[in-house]
Amino acid sequence: MKKKLIVGNWKMNGSLAANAALIAALKDGLAAQAADAGCGVAVAVPAPYLAQVQALVEGSRIALASQDVSQHAVGAYTGETSVEMLREFGVRYTLVGHSERRQYHGETDAVVAAKAQRALAAGITPIVCVGETLAERETGETENVVKRQLAAVVHAVGHCVTELVVAYEPVWAIGTGRTATPEQAQEVHAVLRAQLAAATTHAQDIALLYGGSMNAANAAQLLAQPDIDGGLVGGAALKAADFLQIIAAAD
Ligand code: PGA
Repeated sequence: MKKKLIVGNWKMNGSLAANAALIAALKDGLAAQAADAGCGVAVAVPAPYLAQVQALVEGSRIALASQDVSQHAVGAYTGETSVEMLREFGVRYTLVGHSERRQYHGETDAVVAAKAQRALAAGITPIVCVGETLAERETGETENVVKRQLAAVVHAVGHCVTELVVAYEPVWAIGTGRTATPEQAQEVHAVLRAQLAAATTHAQDIALLYGGSMNAANAAQLLAQPDIDGGLVGGAALKAADFLQIIAAAD
């Protein structure tokens, strides 16, 4: 069976002390589980803490992820972080196109596609986030929206599509405590899988994560769906006990 992947998205939370305590608790919890335990685990941390968390997770099951990356290689882009910089800190995954970036920073499908392409070229796996707003769901636009968002990336990356991770995050479920039902999530995941299958014969190997109020109580049911290969976890990733339970549900 394909290994699942659980990614914690810390968003703009944390401090040197809080990060150290959280990673220590996660490492303790993971050590208590089977050494060959199954699923992949990563944490997407704020950029200033990459060096700290890189050192903390060394030798553990936890991989390092970034929450964003620049679409540009280098130069006069104040405030941005390049793929080469991320590489220096051992970053394995980067989120691209999180709905908070699309919403608050005006990231378009084209920008998200350029970021995904840039990450892939540097050997960093992009976790491409897609998802509809509540208004889009209520007007029956869900399928069109997620397909449009994914199509831009698939078109840009060409044969590298198999290197992507895709995260379906309905915007109305993020941070709201309102989770998509397993059936609602599966329905969209099946659409995304079919779209990927049109681009590659290896669509089954591409991890499709669900995100949006995933927690210790609902993770197992969501992860049991045939096309849900893992989770992108926000709020619950800040509490070691909750995040460990989600990982256990995926192991
Ligand atoms: P949430 O966030 O789990 O707090 O809803 C998920 C995300 O935005 O990645």
